[in-house]
Amino acid sequence: MKTDPIDLIPLPLIFLDKDFVVLSWNKAAEKILQLKDKKYLSQSINDAFNHPNLVEQLETRKQRASSEPVLLTYRQMDLSLSVTDDGDQGYLLIVENVTKIRRLERMRQDFVANVSHELRTPLTVLHGYLEILIERADDVLSSYKKTFEQMYQQSSRMESLIKELLLLSRLENDTDDKDRFQIIDVFPLLEKICNDAKTLSGNRQHKIILKADKHLKIYGLENFLISIFSNLIFNAINYTPAKGKITISWQKDGDKIYFEVSDTGIGMEKKHIPRITERFYRIDKARSRTSGGTGLGLAIVKHALLLHKATLKIESEIGKGSTFTCIFPYTGRL
Ligand SMILES: Nc1ncnc2c1ncn2[C@@H]1O[C@H](COP(=O)(O)OP(=O)(O)OP(=O)(O)O)[C@@H](O)[C@H]1O
Ligand SMILES: [Mg+2]
Repeated sequence: MKTDPIDLIPLPLIFLDKDFVVLSWNKAAEKILQLKDKKYLSQSINDAFNHPNLVEQLETRKQRASSEPVLLTYRQMDLSLSVTDDGDQGYLLIVENVTKIRRLERMRQDFVANVSHELRTPLTVLHGYLEILIERADDVLSSYKKTFEQMYQQSSRMESLIKELLLLSRLENDTDDKDRFQIIDVFPLLEKICNDAKTLSGNRQHKIILKADKHLKIYGLENFLISIFSNLIFNAINYTPAKGKITISWQKDGDKIYFEVSDTGIGMEKKHIPRITERFYRIDKARSRTSGGTGLGLAIVKHALLLHKATLKIESEIGKGSTFTCIFPYTGRL
């Protein structure tokens, strides 16, 4: 049998009669919209898309000679529907799956909103104090010590926020990074980060245990590996009450290398686990803000792991603690 040319068109097409009743469709409609079932034949387009007033919407567009497509959600897809009038014959409905574009749009909007929101507080503080300083420039400057300190704190927060954002966009866009992969001796890096972690813990006196295979090296990017290790270890300190235990391990098992950070901290409810690697996602916003967190740490970890073809597993129980495991492929002795 000869292929009908309309079946070669990759866009779903649906033919309708003058009353918007379905007459036929092409292969792409069958595949993408799953319109296989003959039950859709001779039915109103409203029923085919399970949409109460699609006909109405299409008709108003036709009357106003508007080319604006109708947007609707169908089988978890965002669809854009445009209709062309075929004189007395009926209509041709052209369907486009715009799910990906819409999702990207939403992500971009969320992202911009989040960034602006995060930058607003530090900027307001800086701006307000600068105004006071200008007004009272003649006063003794020493009385502004606290003000300067707060300005300094907020501007450091902005600085680290911007640094993290730039690192993230580099991780997403830079494909040259892979050319700079090197053999990395992980043990000394972990020792140094554990020392920094002790400083961060300060008088909270966490017990930090490092169980690392001293000879186990990896092929990767040093800066991003440091980002992965330090973000997970510093999180363990930040989200574990004083005197809690943090266990860090770096071991090979079979064809995988495991980097694991386990804490006896506050843990989290299961529902948060899939979301905490999203940018700016924090469980307790007020608490993380006082600890200086921006919610970008784990997003960086996720991207840096991706670059190393590694995955992240998170287990956590509220009030008991959390375990973050990074699973790297083992590519032989280095
Ligand atoms: N070990 C942990 N125990 C409990 N909750 C954690 C742990 N690690 C992360 N979280 C939760 O996940 C959220 C996201 O972590 P993430 O590291 O991305 O951001 P952050 O620590 O708030 O800020 P920063 O960008 O400075 O790292 C945290 O705000 C916290 O609520
Ligand atoms: Mg963090």
